[in-house]
Amino acid sequence: MPEKSTIEETGAQLRCIGCGNVRESACADFRCPDCGELLEISYPNAKSKFAHPALLKSQWLERKMSGLPLDRSGVWRFRELLPSSLGADHVITLREGNTPIYDLPNCARIAGVDRLWAKHQGMNPTGSFKDTGMTVAASAARQGKFRWVACASTGNTSASMAAYAARGGMRSLVLIPEGKISWGKLSQSLDYGALTCQLRTDFDGCMRVLNEVVKRMPVYLLNSVNPYRLEGQKTAAIELMEQLEWQVPAHVIVPGGNLGNSSALGKAFLEMMDLGLISRLPKLSVVQAEGANPLVRSVRECGGKKLVPVQAETLATAIRIGNPASWKKALRVLEATGGTVEQVSEVEIALAKAEIGADGIGCEPASAVTLAGLKKLVKRGFVERSETVILILTGHLLKDPEFTLKFHRGDLFAGTSHEQEAGIFASQQRPPLVLDANADAVLNALQQAEKNGSSH
Ligand code: F0G
Repeated sequence: MPEKSTIEETGAQLRCIGCGNVRESACADFRCPDCGELLEISYPNAKSKFAHPALLKSQWLERKMSGLPLDRSGVWRFRELLPSSLGADHVITLREGNTPIYDLPNCARIAGVDRLWAKHQGMNPTGSFKDTGMTVAASAARQGKFRWVACASTGNTSASMAAYAARGGMRSLVLIPEGKISWGKLSQSLDYGALTCQLRTDFDGCMRVLNEVVKRMPVYLLNSVNPYRLEGQKTAAIELMEQLEWQVPAHVIVPGGNLGNSSALGKAFLEMMDLGLISRLPKLSVVQAEGANPLVRSVRECGGKKLVPVQAETLATAIRIGNPASWKKALRVLEATGGTVEQVSEVEIALAKAEIGADGIGCEPASAVTLAGLKKLVKRGFVERSETVILILTGHLLKDPEFTLKFHRGDLFAGTSHEQEAGIFASQQRPPLVLDANADAVLNALQQAEKNGSSH
């Protein structure tokens, strides 16, 4: 089994974001052996190679008509901007990407903007945005002939990794915080055949353990420190721009956890700008839960000069992360695009999630921080009413049904300090009714609901 992964092809380079050194290959933990910073993949020759952006755009569109698996993937369709070292024979694809954009008319009204869209990454094969990165990084693992792949996760990365590993004929090792991920996500990794270890710690603790494991065994690390993950996740921004007919929105709002996704989307916008595919940058802003806000604190307390790790706590378990690996990459994106950070409370997250649901879209709690954050950014004057805003919804509603049921039944915050505030949920709560099995009972309920307006 090889201990290292390599990039040997034409355009792409593995470069350290700290010291800038270019490396032939990555170590097991994907950190620079000289300075310990993360690596990224760059394409120094891309500009000369793709001198005609219109040609690229039309080629990508043409592939939509093709039946080839690579073209059917909403990630590999954009393969000119992926590392070409990954041979087509090794690609593991579940037709990821190809996710819809939806307008959110009610949420727009609530937030106070005229044009609000959601790019719903929860519509990927395993129900989260992770699939777009996993197809690329898992393919790299397969090409490197790794037998085992591994990740620490709050549930979505592990679900995605387990699926792609199974499809690629590899074994997968999942480290998750015990009792702190949703059942939906846990059940996915079991069903896809992962060796699933629930560690008595949090996500940050799982990450620490895994970093040691990959140094002691030839296991391929599939967390978002792996730069191939970010290359795949980049394509969501390219697909978004294609869907918007290359009209750049004013704002893109992303939830922040380990900060890989915001880094990846930002990288995509910068590369598209560099290649002349777009003519200006959207402001990319990151929203975190108040209880898991290391990036927000880093910006507000230290001007982004150092990270302020926190002991993370939030019901949005996907982003319950206190020591995010990609904070420097994310900060670079905020600076380059003129974006900002915001934090939102547990109550604000729950309310926003129900509001997105009421628009007929739905998402998991971590995704709803985007709408909750947008409301605050409008109030702050950072987002203006007339500006077009895109929310990146990262996970599917069915990822965490327990949260949703508790919300509608009114016991999400029962016995907690938020119980009082939860009164504001009333108009959004739609608890299930238990009735006798006769038409009169149902018709009564219907008439009652009609009287009460649209909520029941
Ligand atoms: N939204 C969802 C639904 C997520 O699962 C995650 C991260 C994020 C947002 C944050 O993205 O980490 O790139 O900033 N989930 C990881 C996991 C950590 O293990 O599934 P990020």
